[in-house]
Amino acid sequence: MSKINGKTIWVTGASSGIGLALAEQLAAKGANLVLSARSEDKLQALAERLPGTHIVLPIDLSDPEQAASKAKGFLQDIRVDILINNAGVSQRSLALETELPVYRDLMEINYFSVVGLSKLLAPKMVAQGGGSIVTIASVAGKVGSKRRSGYSGAKFAVIGFMDCLRAELAHHNVHCLTVCPGFVHTQIAHNALTGDGSTLGKADPDNADGISAEECARQIIVAIEAGKDEIVTGKGLSKIAPLLQRLMPGLVRRIVAKRD
Ligand SMILES: NC(=O)c1ccc[n+]([C@@H]2O[C@H](COP(=O)([O-])OP(=O)(O)OC[C@H]3O[C@@H](n4cnc5c(N)ncnc54)[C@H](OP(=O)(O)O)[C@@H]3O)[C@@H](O)[C@H]2O)c1
Repeated sequence: MSKINGKTIWVTGASSGIGLALAEQLAAKGANLVLSARSEDKLQALAERLPGTHIVLPIDLSDPEQAASKAKGFLQDIRVDILINNAGVSQRSLALETELPVYRDLMEINYFSVVGLSKLLAPKMVAQGGGSIVTIASVAGKVGSKRRSGYSGAKFAVIGFMDCLRAELAHHNVHCLTVCPGFVHTQIAHNALTGDGSTLGKADPDNADGISAEECARQIIVAIEAGKDEIVTGKGLSKIAPLLQRLMPGLVRRIVAKRD
């Protein structure tokens, strides 16, 4: 039985980048989508152009409690088979130049929103006999590097959360997949927070050089269908960094200290 065709899949961050590519590919495979992000107009246009029937659930994940409570009412009578926690915001600022509230904002969207939405859906999945919770973490959740101290902290945390959730839900037939992309060519750098909380507002050569959002989404869908626990997507150094970190942590520390 297909894990995608005819299933209801909630994708957060569906207005751009990896989430948008996921929505396009999942709809093409026959999924019914719940599309979330802040940009309601983009989500409505997306829902209208995708094949199939889809629901728009505009949500601001910078306040995870409010977001979970809005989603709870909205999804009351909807069976969600797969939750894809994809929405996220990156960072481009040195720790010494980053104000504390920026760290909190990065944790709200990249960590607490994942906890909030997963806790909302997990009991329903247990009650319905199964489901999948997928979280788009990052290679930055495996290897710390410059200008990402808040983002990396949140992504390390979310990988730990997913490991625990997987252990706790396995016997309930709820599959938990953690995705760690390396560089992907999206708006992530443009939307990244700087030290005072403003957005960077420009592209980043590393991301521009990364794999496409479409390729990343393709690999994520293969991993969902194969029931994988964790995957690393990407190319070059960003793809091999997690393995190198395990085998030669000293070398990785020297490389990241040299890179700008
Ligand atoms: N691109 C990469 O190189 C890369 C690498 C590793 C991991 N990732 C992870 O992949 C995920 C997707 O990122 P992307 O690269 O596709 O970036 P992106 O193009 O900037 O898209 C981010 C998505 O998150 C949504 N979002 C941001 N803030 C939100 C908020 N407060 N509430 C609700 N939705 C919000 C955005 O929608 P609205 O602005 O409409 O709200 C947008 O749809 C993120 O978790 C990111 O950390 C990306």
